[in-house]
Amino acid sequence: MIWSPVGEAVLAEEGASRLRKGQRNIYVKWLVSLRGPVEKGDLVVIKDEKGDTLGLGFFEGIGAMAVRVLSTELEDPFSLLYRRLEEALRLREKLKLDNFFRWVHSEADALPGLIIDVYDDVVVISSTSIGMDKRVEEISAMVGDLFRPSSIVLKNDSRPRREVGLPSERRVLSGGKTRAVVREGGALFHVDTIKGQKTGFFIDQRLNRIEVGYLAGPGDRVLDLYSYTGGFAIHAALSGAEVVAVDESEYAVTEMRSNARLNSIELVAVQSRVKEFLEGDSSVYDLVIVDPPALAPSRDMVSRARKTYTAVNATAMERVVSGGLMFTSSCSQFITKEEFKKIVIRAATLSNREIMILGERGASPDHPIDPMHPWTGYLKGLLLRVE
Ligand SMILES: C[S@@+](CC[C@H](N)C(=O)[O-])C[C@H]1O[C@@H](n2cnc3c(N)ncnc32)[C@H](O)[C@@H]1O
Repeated sequence: MIWSPVGEAVLAEEGASRLRKGQRNIYVKWLVSLRGPVEKGDLVVIKDEKGDTLGLGFFEGIGAMAVRVLSTELEDPFSLLYRRLEEALRLREKLKLDNFFRWVHSEADALPGLIIDVYDDVVVISSTSIGMDKRVEEISAMVGDLFRPSSIVLKNDSRPRREVGLPSERRVLSGGKTRAVVREGGALFHVDTIKGQKTGFFIDQRLNRIEVGYLAGPGDRVLDLYSYTGGFAIHAALSGAEVVAVDESEYAVTEMRSNARLNSIELVAVQSRVKEFLEGDSSVYDLVIVDPPALAPSRDMVSRARKTYTAVNATAMERVVSGGLMFTSSCSQFITKEEFKKIVIRAATLSNREIMILGERGASPDHPIDPMHPWTGYLKGLLLRVE
């Protein structure tokens, strides 16, 4: 029975006290013992060393992760998951998010290790939890019941999964549709949930892309670096700007061209690595966007990533006309907001430009931040005026 606890996980004081404060990820170092015939992904009752019950969770036993906490009460786990999915969906409905949104943002929606994204009538589930993996068919049935999508896709091929040895897979769980068209403000985008990166689209930058659309004006020269399928570029072009967008991925550039047709706009879509493009282009732009992939996907890559972020931002700043704008961001969870700001300030010094910070940005509100799980606030953005 996958919905009944089969044993107990006993936590040391450190783990017990963190759990009581809201921590949902219990690491191996805080686990004292496991009692019963518990296997990876099984439900366990969580206790402290005195024998007091702390809650209910999945025993993970992968990498450093011992237990994912589902609840601090002993309640029926099936109903609990259903209720959490429903609560998360009601919140997104309040946020008025066009026809696509992040439905579940893992720990921030009290569903640790689970991500669910919606693209019109296609829902994508992905997980980094073996407990969620084991119940993916039931979770898919709950999603079907609550949202009634045309199809549900499983996209379980993220880097964190590979790092802890979880199997990689992409498959359709129900229905047959894997592509959708989403609407973001005045722009439309094709999303391919199977071929696309992550779950298909970078939903987190929604409000920042819309803002760039407002900031760009007719005749402005706009450069969108690391453009993917043209998120920022299409908004700027819809405002009448002359846009150049650069991405190394053939898939991204092909989709960007078809997104341009979908929106009846023109832009220059370049398939190139950013470094090589900038080496061969000496133009200046009124607005430059820098949205690289997570350059520090793990803690041990932070110091190298810091150097790359600094170099990329410095080179990009050199291409902004005096008095022009730049929007730069980092989605590396291991680089903090303060650290990112320092990187950008250092980049300004290196490129001999003066910057004014016009605003700090983050992910759209369908990516709530849980202060107990700081990674949930992984996206940082800065809007700059460059002198
Ligand atoms: C975070 S995504 C950009 C999302 C995009 N701004 C949007 O709003 O949809 C990062 C993109 O950088 C691209 N990329 C990664 N390394 C690159 C490189 N060295 N040069 C150019 N593109 C790169 C990836 O293919 C990916 O599309």
